[in-house]
Amino acid sequence: MIQVAIMGHGVVGSGVAKILTTHKKKLYSAIGEEVYIKKILDLREFPDSPLADRFTKDFDEILNDVEIRVVAEVMGGIHPAYDYTKLLLKAGKSVVTSNKELVATHGAELLAIAKEQNANYLFEASVGGGIPILRPISQCLVANNVHEIAGILNGTTNFILTKMIDDGMEFDSALKLAQQLGFAERNPAADVEGHDACRKICILASLASGRHVYPDNIHTEGITEITLSDVKYASSFNSVIKLIGDVKFLENGKLDIFVAPMIINRKSQLANIDNEFNGIMVRGDCTDDVVFYGKGAGSMPTASAVTADVIDCCKHLKARKYLFWADSNNENVLPYDESRTAVYLRLSSPDKDKAKDEVRELFGETTLLSVPNEPESEFAVVTGEFTVGEIKEKLGALKSADVLSCIRIGNL
Ligand code: HSE
Repeated sequence: MIQVAIMGHGVVGSGVAKILTTHKKKLYSAIGEEVYIKKILDLREFPDSPLADRFTKDFDEILNDVEIRVVAEVMGGIHPAYDYTKLLLKAGKSVVTSNKELVATHGAELLAIAKEQNANYLFEASVGGGIPILRPISQCLVANNVHEIAGILNGTTNFILTKMIDDGMEFDSALKLAQQLGFAERNPAADVEGHDACRKICILASLASGRHVYPDNIHTEGITEITLSDVKYASSFNSVIKLIGDVKFLENGKLDIFVAPMIINRKSQLANIDNEFNGIMVRGDCTDDVVFYGKGAGSMPTASAVTADVIDCCKHLKARKYLFWADSNNENVLPYDESRTAVYLRLSSPDKDKAKDEVRELFGETTLLSVPNEPESEFAVVTGEFTVGEIKEKLGALKSADVLSCIRIGNL
C-alpha cells in the first residue's frame, strides 16, 4: 500500500479524493498496489465526507509522517503552498500539483530541490486541466524542434467569449455562469485579465525551452475590452476572437511570447474550440501541427491529471521522472515591442474618409471591413504586418480618428 496526502479539499482536491476512492480498482491495476489517502489538509470542516476521519488542519502531520510518500498540493495560490511544497520536497516526498501560479513563479527552484532530493515534482494539471500536454511536449514530441506553441489556455475566458459570440450574452452574465460552474479562479480577474493564461504559456515555454520564463515579464492582455462590435467585425471576415497564449521559439534563441486576444480564421484548428474547452497547438519541425483538445477546467478533468501524477509518483518512488528546466534571468524573452503582427483596428472619427486616408498613409495597404448597421462614425480595417512598436508609433501619430480596438490577427 502506498500512502498519500492531499492538501486542499476545494474544486480540484475533492475531485482527487473522489477519483482515488471511486477508481481504486482501476488505479490498483495501473501500479499493482493500493493507493491510500492518509491525510487531507484543509482548514474547513467536512463532517459529512466519507473521508471525514482523514482530515487535518495541521500541515506537520503530513510533513512528519514518513509513511506518506506522495502529496497532491491542490490549494492554489503561492502562500502557503510554496513553503509547504519546499518542505515536503526537502523531506524527500514527491509532490504533484495543479497550481499553475506556483509552478510559473517558482518552478525552477522547486524542480531543482526535487532533483537534489531524488524526488518528483509533477504538474501535468497546471496547464490544460485534463488535457495531457506536458508529457507530450517533454516526451512524445521531444525529437522535434518546436517552433511555436499557441493555445486557448483559460476555460473561463473561452466560455465567456463563446457565449458572447454564439448567444450575444453580456460579459458579466457569462462570467457569473463560469463561476457557478467552477471554472473561474477565486479571483476571476486572473482569468479575464489574462494572468492565468500567462502562467500556463510560461510553463509551456519553460518546459519547451529548458529555461524558466517568468510571467511578470510577459505582455498580458485579457478580454475585458472586447466588445460585441469586435465580435461582429471578426465574423465579417470569417474569423473569431480567442484569448491566445503564444510562444514562438525564434532562431536567435529568443522567445516571442505573450497573451492577448487574437482574431483567428474559422479554418484554424483553434477557432472551433468553445466553452470551457482548451486547445493547444504545438508546431514541430518533424510533426507539423499537433493539437491537444479537451476540458481545461473543472473539478474532475483537472483531478484526473493530478491523480495521474500521483500514480506516476507512486510508480517511481525510487526514481526521478525527467521533468526539468533551469532558472533564467529573463534575457530569453523578446521585448514585446519587437513582436510582429498584423492587427485589426476599430476606429471612430467624425470624418471617416479623412481618417481612412490617414490610416492608409500610415499603414500602407489595409483591408476595410464592413458589417451591417455599422455606426456612422465607426470603421474597421486589417493592416499588414509590423512590429508592435511600429504599430504603437503609427497609432500615436494618427490624428483624425480615435482607436476603439486594436487586436492581433493570428496566423494559427
Ligand atoms: N480558471 C482556470 C480556467 C481554471 O478557467 O481555465 C483552470 O486552470
